[in-house]
Amino acid sequence: MPMRHNARCRLPHRAAHTVLGEYGVRLLDSTMEARAWRDGLSTSMQVGFVPTMGALHEGHLSLVRESLRQCDVTCVSIFVNPLQFGPSEDLDRYPRTLREDLALLEPLGVAAVLVPAVESFYAPDHSTYVVEERLAAGLCGRYRPGHFRGVATVCLKLFNIIRPHVVYLGQKDAQQCAVLRRMVRDLDLPLRISTCPTVREADGLAMSSRNRMLTPEERARATRIYASLQAVREHYLAGERNCGRLAAIGRGIAEADGAVRLQYWEIVHPTTLEPLEEIGAEGALCAVAGFVGATRLIDNILLNGPANNG
Ligand code: PAJ
Repeated sequence: MPMRHNARCRLPHRAAHTVLGEYGVRLLDSTMEARAWRDGLSTSMQVGFVPTMGALHEGHLSLVRESLRQCDVTCVSIFVNPLQFGPSEDLDRYPRTLREDLALLEPLGVAAVLVPAVESFYAPDHSTYVVEERLAAGLCGRYRPGHFRGVATVCLKLFNIIRPHVVYLGQKDAQQCAVLRRMVRDLDLPLRISTCPTVREADGLAMSSRNRMLTPEERARATRIYASLQAVREHYLAGERNCGRLAAIGRGIAEADGAVRLQYWEIVHPTTLEPLEEIGAEGALCAVAGFVGATRLIDNILLNGPANNG
């Protein structure tokens, strides 16, 4: 059995298409199948992993391409994780576009796509969770209690199943990156996290699966989020270092005419995520979350940070 899986993932793309049928990628629809596939990979292979909730767009695909560039084998997961949605959140509205997702992944050369059924992924009496207590507390954590517990728990399960060498995450979800990096460090997970820059639409709106829930009028208003971040970057580049004043500029732009109903517009330390008063040598993360209509959007930029500043 393992040999067969191994042979499959090494097939050149065209042959794989013939062998693997409709989508040309190997679909793993249970934990057991995923484990068997993973066990069949040669130990010399570098395995890259891109966890997603589907409704794929260029942001997701940029992570997949980076994994394909750096690793021998790339696995993508598509799983709308109920554990990370609160009771009043958009789990039911969350877009599910599996056929289109597979059609996007197919030509890229992804070896396997894990698409587990919820019922089989979580035992009915599942009762073990991963709680990161510091970085998850502020920003989105304040408005989405339990969200990062759900993210960390699903990711640890996925990492244990796929056993990747490298996991690719988007800077778009900066707090998620920070929490997962901390989990990897604190729990000694044998993998590396690679954070990739935020991919944006031509007008600056960060790509997000949730963008497709916006009406055209809301879509136009949503551009204010990045505009507010850009304006703050300009004031920062002009010499302003006071976070109170910078955040007030950002809030003003996002909220003008009721464009965005903000949850937060904050400037925090880029790694500890603690609120800052002045931006110092270590730079800062400007992070925004707010509603445009019924859709919650987030975005961020790094000021004076590493190259990946979205
Ligand atoms: P999802 O929102 O589908 O995002 C999957 C990955 O794509 C995340 O690492 C996210 O940061 C990245 N991503 C999303 N939009 C991006 C953009 N515009 N540019 C670059 N990267 C982008 O994040 C999740 O799913 C879930 O919480 C998950 C980690 C899969 C756990 O359920």
